[in-house]
Amino acid sequence: MKFIELVRKRQSVRKYLPEMVPRDVLNKCLEAARLAPSACNSQPWSFIVVDDEKIRNKLAEKAFSGIYSLNSFAKKAPIYIVVVTQRSKYTACLAGYFKGTQYSLIDIGIACEHFILQATEEGLGTCWLGWFNEKEVKKVLGIPGRNKVDIIISMGYPQIAQLHNKKRKLLNEISRFY
Ligand SMILES: Cc1cc2nc3c(=O)[nH]c(=O)nc-3n(C[C@H](O)[C@H](O)[C@H](O)COP(=O)(O)O)c2cc1C
Repeated sequence: MKFIELVRKRQSVRKYLPEMVPRDVLNKCLEAARLAPSACNSQPWSFIVVDDEKIRNKLAEKAFSGIYSLNSFAKKAPIYIVVVTQRSKYTACLAGYFKGTQYSLIDIGIACEHFILQATEEGLGTCWLGWFNEKEVKKVLGIPGRNKVDIIISMGYPQIAQLHNKKRKLLNEISRFY
């Protein structure tokens, strides 16, 4: 598949088949994330793959209930990738402090999209999830207080293969040449 086709194929998938994803496929996606660039090569991330049924169910209930039930579709995803944002390297933190840029979030974004594009190539559906109960997620998975969970990726084989229309601004609205 050409890269632009892969990018066009990636879309948020919110309905999944119950089938599990083989570990070697998951490892391929993790490898794509591992190779992502990051500020000062900080690699301020780790990925917790939740595919154990018992933990998955507990996490689903705790993460997507109450005010977070806007994302209750995610309760039915067979797999979650809980993305842990770690503290960046000292140099990246310092540069970020003076420039007012939180590089670790940029880094996480790149790594997650690498993961997601590899998953797309494998015929998997994913959805970025930024709205969930972070405190409860950290409790369930024993993630230390100093680390953040900014993103969860829900994942599974899509129920519907059809591509939906991408609503995007036009190229001339978002770019210019000088
Ligand atoms: C950082 C981030 C957080 C997001 N959080 C959620 C979310 O909590 N729930 C959800 O259903 N979609 C979420 N999305 C998916 C976006 O709504 C989606 O990418 C956007 O509408 C474009 O649609 P597409 O992914 O199908 O191209 C998130 C996307 C990003 C990049």
